[in-house]
Amino acid sequence: MDKFVIKGGVKLKGELSASGSKNAVLPIMVASLLSCGKSVIRNVPDVEDVRYMIKVLEYLKAKVDFNNHTLVIEVPEKLNFKAPYDLVRKMRASYYVMGALLGRCNKVDVSLPGGCAIGERPVDLHIKGFEHLGCKITLEHGYIKARTRKLKGSDMFLEGSKGPSVGATINVMMAASLAGGKTVIRGSAIEPEVGDVAHFLNAMGAKITGIDTSIIAIEGVEKLHPVDFSVIPDRIEGATLLTAAAITGGELYLKNCNPNHMSSVLEKFREIGHNVKTDNKTVYLKAVKNLNPVEINVLPYPFFPTDMQAQFTSLLSLVNGMSVITENIFEKRYMHVPELARMGADISIDGNKAIIRGVKKLLGAPTMASDLRASAALVLAALAAKGESEVKRIYHIDRGYESIEKKLRKIGAQIRRAEE
Ligand code: UD1
Repeated sequence: MDKFVIKGGVKLKGELSASGSKNAVLPIMVASLLSCGKSVIRNVPDVEDVRYMIKVLEYLKAKVDFNNHTLVIEVPEKLNFKAPYDLVRKMRASYYVMGALLGRCNKVDVSLPGGCAIGERPVDLHIKGFEHLGCKITLEHGYIKARTRKLKGSDMFLEGSKGPSVGATINVMMAASLAGGKTVIRGSAIEPEVGDVAHFLNAMGAKITGIDTSIIAIEGVEKLHPVDFSVIPDRIEGATLLTAAAITGGELYLKNCNPNHMSSVLEKFREIGHNVKTDNKTVYLKAVKNLNPVEINVLPYPFFPTDMQAQFTSLLSLVNGMSVITENIFEKRYMHVPELARMGADISIDGNKAIIRGVKKLLGAPTMASDLRASAALVLAALAAKGESEVKRIYHIDRGYESIEKKLRKIGAQIRRAEE
């Protein structure tokens, strides 16, 4: 297992490019199964989750080549329709195979994904959506089994008690693309990654309208065809790199990003006091000294994303005054807090709220990553801390950040990978 060794206290300055979006490419890779033939997907981040999804696709009988941020996926006529426990348990995004395989084979057996480090993650909305499309769903021996003669378009309300679901919207959209008749998803998620999957499906010949709105309509088609498609930039990776500049008092030009996708996060940087400018595909952030505490409400897009909550917990732990974060998506997503406390942060958790009292400095310490974004938060804290820190179990960060240590070194960070 690898760890990062980080010497903190260096102001990070320079220019970086955002990679392609992990959360868009994972469902897009699965969506490529909806047609036979060879699809090409570009601007793909070289991260462990992508490499794992390649294994999932290969298990289902696709041939995959990954080189130079480009995936070539060749899909045969006949696919395997079963995704076993060992395949699904390691990466939740593998549940996207449900929608794609239902579209292609009218049947699918997927092992229930189970819990994960950031709390309970139910799949009831996915099941509700497939039932609306005419599937019979049973739960047998830990597997969700879905069967249908032919998927039928349907008008459904898909929002849950916590708001819209990114996963369920994408899953239903994929299956509905090959259903007979029209499907309307009301209460659909409007995250940019959902939009990117919809654009990918349309490029394959699907008829999806209402993209980026909460009512998506899908006119089912008989067949889809392979495509050549480029994935949107990763708004979460981009915002994490900007946070690295902010927390160290530095300055960053972030290129090849989409500032519109990051607007709630950029607004919080501004509220804290940092200088933020944007143009078409670039964000410029220059950190300032006098900072203000802020309140953050984590909610579905376009509001502040759950995937930036941990990184902002680190950032705000060095902002004088009291900041409050309310996590409304995954209530228990605060595994990074005890680790930050070991570096001197003053944070208390009250239900789904983190109350952060800014401290003057953090002190380097050995820490342990618990999930993807929590590990990014620990790296950020270590970059700002006095002295040396270690972040162990960085396989979590490798799941979703492409060569983060190389990117950070490029802007001056003293960070190296070592064996644990
Ligand atoms: C969520 C995030 C997404 C992020 C990803 C990885 C939101 C809305 N979604 O997507 O931005 O990239 O995690 O961290 O911020 N839910 C149900 N029943 C279901 C499905 C979901 O109750 O069948 C609930 C979830 O528990 C959660 C909320 O709905 O509270 C949103 O879940 P969902 O968007 O589906 O989660 P992901 O697709 O994993």
